Amino acid sequence: MNEEFKIIEISDEKYLEEIMEVENRSFEMPYSIKAMTKAYHFCPWKYCIIKDGKIIGYIFTFKESRIAYHIVTFAIDPKYRKLGLGTKLLDHMIEKTMEKGAREWRLEVETTNEAAITLYEKEKFERGGTIPNYYSTGRHAYIYKKKMIKEN
Ligand SMILES: CC(C)(COP(=O)(O)OP(=O)(O)OC[C@H]1O[C@@H](n2cnc3c(N)ncnc32)[C@H](O)[C@@H]1OP(=O)(O)O)[C@@H](O)C(=O)NCCC(=O)NCCS
Repeated sequence: MNEEFKIIEISDEKYLEEIMEVENRSFEMPYSIKAMTKAYHFCPWKYCIIKDGKIIGYIFTFKESRIAYHIVTFAIDPKYRKLGLGTKLLDHMIEKTMEKGAREWRLEVETTNEAAITLYEKEKFERGGTIPNYYSTGRHAYIYKKKMIKEN
């Protein structure tokens, strides 16, 4: 990754303010600060991308079962999209959780979210079912999963 961007672990609530700035620019219906604070405490595996000392992307993940981890929120600031940063951040989280025993990663994504769906499919996530009205009435989610193929 280009040296001006750095991935670090999110280890302090003080980062939430900057995370919320990216969140608000990224989603039509962003998390409230209350929901993001809850996610902060619920998700032990949280990483962000820093540029010039400022957060420009983040991913929050929790452990769902012995080997499965779930992505709760993931975004890159609109100014820095399509530079490969989302892919780098996702790969970083996968690598770090693999060290803890993760072999499967799951998420929900809105059925109309072409950018995210393309990224996940490129990253070998596979589409499972659909959850109708997951986000709100008429806004559905696909379930995506990626499984680690054991290498011998
Ligand atoms: C989804 C998101 C995190 C992708 O971040 P990113 O840094 O732009 O992603 P990358 O640059 O790593 O893109 C990887 C691939 O995804 C695909 N992709 C990314 N943006 C795309 C777009 N707008 N349309 C179609 N495909 C897109 C491309 O295939 C791209 O590879 P390429 O640039 O070599 O063609 C970003 O668009 C985002 O923050 N969106 C709003 C929040 C969101 O939807 N989060 C996911 C919720 S489930």
